[in-house]
Amino acid sequence: MNEARAKRMEAKYSGNKTKSQTKQLELGPSRGRSRAMGASGKPKNMRNAIVRLMQYISHEKVLIIAAISCSLIHTGTSLAASYLLRPIINQFIYFEGGASDISARVSGLLTWLIFLAIIYGISVLTQWLQQRLMLEASQRTLVRMRSELFAKLQNLPVRYFDTHAAGDIMSRFTNDVDTIGEMLNTTLIQIICGAITIVGTIVLMLYTNPILGLITIIATPLLTFVSKTIMKNGQKAYSEQQKNLGMLNGFTGETVSGQKVVKVFNHEEIAMDEFGYLNEKLCRAQEEAQFRSGIMGPATHQLCNMVYAVVASVGGILVALGRFDVGGLTVSLNYTRQFNRPINEVSMQINTVFSALAGAERVFEVMDAEEEKEDADTVPMKEMKGHVVLDHVNFGYVPDVPVLKDISLYAKPGQKIAFVGSTGAGKTTVTNLLSRFYDIQEGTITIDGVPIEKINRGFLRSNIAMVLQDTHLFTGTVRENIRYGRLEATDEEVVEAAKIASAHSFIEQLENGYDTVLENDGANLSQGQRQLLNIARAAISKAPILILDEATSSVDTRTERHIEEGMDALMENRTTFVIAHRLSTVRKSNAIMVLEKGKIIERGTHEELLAAKGRYADLYHEIVELD
Ligand SMILES: Nc1ncnc2c1ncn2[C@@H]1O[C@H](COP(=O)(O)OP(=O)(O)O)[C@@H](O)[C@H]1O
Ligand SMILES: [Mg+2]
Repeated sequence: MNEARAKRMEAKYSGNKTKSQTKQLELGPSRGRSRAMGASGKPKNMRNAIVRLMQYISHEKVLIIAAISCSLIHTGTSLAASYLLRPIINQFIYFEGGASDISARVSGLLTWLIFLAIIYGISVLTQWLQQRLMLEASQRTLVRMRSELFAKLQNLPVRYFDTHAAGDIMSRFTNDVDTIGEMLNTTLIQIICGAITIVGTIVLMLYTNPILGLITIIATPLLTFVSKTIMKNGQKAYSEQQKNLGMLNGFTGETVSGQKVVKVFNHEEIAMDEFGYLNEKLCRAQEEAQFRSGIMGPATHQLCNMVYAVVASVGGILVALGRFDVGGLTVSLNYTRQFNRPINEVSMQINTVFSALAGAERVFEVMDAEEEKEDADTVPMKEMKGHVVLDHVNFGYVPDVPVLKDISLYAKPGQKIAFVGSTGAGKTTVTNLLSRFYDIQEGTITIDGVPIEKINRGFLRSNIAMVLQDTHLFTGTVRENIRYGRLEATDEEVVEAAKIASAHSFIEQLENGYDTVLENDGANLSQGQRQLLNIARAAISKAPILILDEATSSVDTRTERHIEEGMDALMENRTTFVIAHRLSTVRKSNAIMVLEKGKIIERGTHEELLAAKGRYADLYHEIVELD
């Protein structure tokens, strides 16, 4: 592989984060721009994130205080037990003044040992308790966080989902909440315990013997610094390894999900070549990272041993000179041996804290996003007839980029209005405005004479049924999916709706008929069948307004002709807005609007527009010739 191509590949795949990438693969390929982006690195505003996270955790105050108390007892007892060795050794095992009564010493020793066992027992018990309590507290916090996040998503406007990648939103539920959970579960307590242990050990060391204590206290940070330096090199190799792993995963994922495209364009050879390159790179990086982390362990270990040797020698001399006791030396050596453990532990956990805070920040970002606001003075409506009027409507998704310009039209209850025009003309945008997925900037839209902003959103949407080109089916049975359109519909009504949509016959042929479980957005159905189910879902709804946005574009012409009757039944007595490429569906409309670049350039019935010999006539003849 030449260098330029290698560079291109790296640039393409190097954005992948290993963890999120694997998560993404588990989630399956989601549509469009989605790419999982987990939290990484440091939070932008640490204080803010901490304060808000604290607010969440504070709901579990009692549990957390109990857990922290337990961990205090746990560390306290461990420290106490470690110090008790000194009097035990001095009194019963080794002491100046020679042998006194042996049996008294043994029984005394036994008593102390039982005492020690009790202390250790308490220590273990409180540690277990602390873990249970903290687990409970963190799980409750996560449950609250996840449900608030989900509830928030339900209240976000469509604009939010149009401007944020699905994978990115998903990863806030998975990766980010996970890292927060990890921190709450273990890291927090470990840091608290570690800090207490460090302070306690320093105090006890200095108390036992200031000289030996000082040696350890000075040497250990030095040692930590040295191992950190080695680590830093290792870290680079490690992140190189992660980056390469991410690239390989990204490439593999893409090739697996795009296997059909790879095959049909005969890209197997090239794919294999590229994979080989990435594989080789990962291999090199992994060797390097593993080698470095391999030497790190032994190196730190030996450095620790050196400090230990120094303390032992100095302590030995002090004991020989009669300035120190053997029990004290044993305890001091124990402290020296263990001192770097809590230091390492705490410094390791800091990273988890940072990524958890960054994760929390990303979660709070969603929580802070602006929700769909309800107008204060909504006009109460009992029912909707479906008299829709658009008056000089101007709209753009982003300010200063108008998409719809001066749109005026009306539809009386039960009328059928069709939109035709080339892709990007603004047809879908009109329907987005009717369901108030977006708010208009100028002009008015009224339904039954009430301005659309004054209608309760829930009420408005419950009165609009939609069939979109982008079908969506939920995991569940066929029946449930159809009933989604009107939850109180009976089984008979479900079948009836399916018949209207011409879906009945194919549903009956499914393995379990209406009880067949659809998974993965109905992956086991054809695109056309999925669409028929979506039509059935709209058919079961009693909404007076119906929007069909290229609803039949992925069923073949024969099926379309077949369901035409059903569609007629579907549209009967409903104000219908239909967008279609195939003009046969459009012909029967009361009025046809020809949209071009956001403007209505022609309007009228089929016959009128044909007679006018304008854009519609061109489109019509083009299509007819093609058909
Ligand atoms: N969510 C969106 N954000 C920004 N621009 C959009 C969005 N949806 C559509 N557009 C733009 O609005 C214009 C009209 O799109 P649309 O109404 O979907 O066209 P049509 O349905 O007629 O093919 C296009 O230029 C498109 O790029
Ligand atoms: Mg469209």
